[in-house]
Amino acid sequence: MRKVLYDRFGDEQVLAVREQPTPTIDPNQLLIQVKAASINPLDWKIYRGEMKLLSGSKFPKGVGIDFAGIVAQVGTSITSYRPGDAVFGFLDVFKGGALAEYVVVTEAAIALKPASISFDQAAALPVTGLAALQIVDQLAAVGPGQEVLINGASGGVGLFAIQLAKKHGARVTAVAGPAGVHRATQLGADAVVDYTKQRLSQLTQRFDTIIDLSDKLNFSAAQQLMKPRATFVSMLPSPLGLVRSFFHNLFSGQKHRILILKPTAAGLNVLASLAQQQLQIPVEKIYELANVRQAYQETSQGKVKGKAVVVLN
Ligand SMILES: NC(=O)c1ccc[n+]([C@@H]2O[C@H](COP(=O)([O-])OP(=O)(O)OC[C@H]3O[C@@H](n4cnc5c(N)ncnc54)[C@H](OP(=O)(O)O)[C@@H]3O)[C@@H](O)[C@H]2O)c1
Repeated sequence: MRKVLYDRFGDEQVLAVREQPTPTIDPNQLLIQVKAASINPLDWKIYRGEMKLLSGSKFPKGVGIDFAGIVAQVGTSITSYRPGDAVFGFLDVFKGGALAEYVVVTEAAIALKPASISFDQAAALPVTGLAALQIVDQLAAVGPGQEVLINGASGGVGLFAIQLAKKHGARVTAVAGPAGVHRATQLGADAVVDYTKQRLSQLTQRFDTIIDLSDKLNFSAAQQLMKPRATFVSMLPSPLGLVRSFFHNLFSGQKHRILILKPTAAGLNVLASLAQQQLQIPVEKIYELANVRQAYQETSQGKVKGKAVVVLN
């Protein structure tokens, strides 16, 4: 089978499609034939060596976390899936390897793919959809009537965060670049700020929740826009940041929460059910496996707005 691997940290040029033996499974595992895998900023942070502490430095390493495909084989102790089932799921965030014709998973990492969405759409859901769920439902506990600001709203996590916050009855202000303004409005944002035209510091409104998906808004700048008992959610879980936010949260009404993604099959089932209702899953660009370097070059340079997926046969 073909699989994307790399032997050292670096830019997209380290990525190569290689022939590998098709993996075998244990009794509690399933072999999935991957139809599509999605691209996430976490992928390039890892292969560039920006997350060595968490990923380790053992090579070769695979790339890609979330995927959708067809169950090819089930282990002898698997009862809830059969060969031929269409599923979607995630691999260990720091081990990766979804950009491959086959992956091995346990039942805890997959859910049935709703028939109403394509494999491309299903592959685009796990990391960003689960991140948005964890932020909106748990970290920020967004509720009816809350004022929510989403900075970086037209990206992968943002497009689901807008829809989930709206579903919870919040009033959403989305911050996006010029190419994302239309998409944010279409997904339900009540107001959209184009960050190339207006600075956040110029906003007079104050928010109950601020979600920063751009990695560019720090807590002290966000505090100027927060109500006295508001929550700021950021996406960069550095050890120092986690310690700082822990002590800050003990003494302040304004909370700083940092996402550490905890993907679960239960979360995938929630996403599957939302996808069967009205959750929109826009996929902006589709790449062939052979063009994996181009795929990561373009996405990491911000040339693709929203989700991109890589298709496999
Ligand atoms: N901690 C965790 O467990 C965890 C889990 C999942 C994701 N993440 C991280 O969360 C972040 C968001 O993920 P994603 O998939 O949504 O990434 P993405 O698709 O690249 O979206 C990032 C968004 O930020 C916007 N942006 C860039 N500069 C901006 C600025 N100055 N002001 C406002 N917005 C700006 C971009 O808009 P334009 O393209 O229009 O510039 C883009 O829409 C990434 O850093 C990812 O690694 C962390």
